[in-house]
Amino acid sequence: MTTIQALTAADRDEWLPLWQAYLTFYESALADDVTESTFARIVDPAGDIHGAIARDDDGRAVGIVHWFAHPATWSKTGYTYLEDLFVDPSVRGTGVGRALIAHVADAARGAGSDKLYWLTAESNSTARGLYDRVAERSGFIHYQIDLG
Ligand SMILES: CC(C)(COP(=O)(O)OP(=O)(O)OC[C@H]1O[C@@H](n2cnc3c(N)ncnc32)[C@H](O)[C@@H]1OP(=O)(O)O)[C@@H](O)C(=O)NCCC(=O)NCCS
Repeated sequence: MTTIQALTAADRDEWLPLWQAYLTFYESALADDVTESTFARIVDPAGDIHGAIARDDDGRAVGIVHWFAHPATWSKTGYTYLEDLFVDPSVRGTGVGRALIAHVADAARGAGSDKLYWLTAESNSTARGLYDRVAERSGFIHYQIDLG
């Protein structure tokens, strides 16, 4: 059975390879200080980003998810954005991704968010296979301006 718990500082050595594999999946890399800052904010109880880690029966870390809440003009309580989701390839298709999304939905509901949402690449058919089962497509198209 998959167990899901809030990420803590003690999880760092197990979180890091999953995070790096997630970045590699996106053919991306981040400067080490960005990764360090992100992890520190996730495990800070007063921090603005939340994270959870999934473990299998043997306690092996097999998935991670990160999310944060933000205000919204169309809601008094705001929305929650799920930013990162990754499941180790060895356990894909066994419900870990679904369980991680359900964990975030519970947390967001508990925090009073009116909506949980996320983005994915149009071409990510594997992820969309899961998302089409657990959520509704918004119909919105994502635009951005890189300000870096
Ligand atoms: C997307 C991802 C998180 C899914 O995790 P997962 O643990 O394999 O997903 P689950 O096992 O919970 O899948 C749940 C459902 O989706 C279905 N599903 C999983 N993979 C699928 C696929 N390739 N095609 C169609 N459906 C699929 C499962 O059949 C299951 O449906 P069911 O419960 O009704 O049988 C995982 O593939 C992953 O980490 N991919 C690389 C990173 C990534 O794309 N992250 C998301 C970025 S937005």
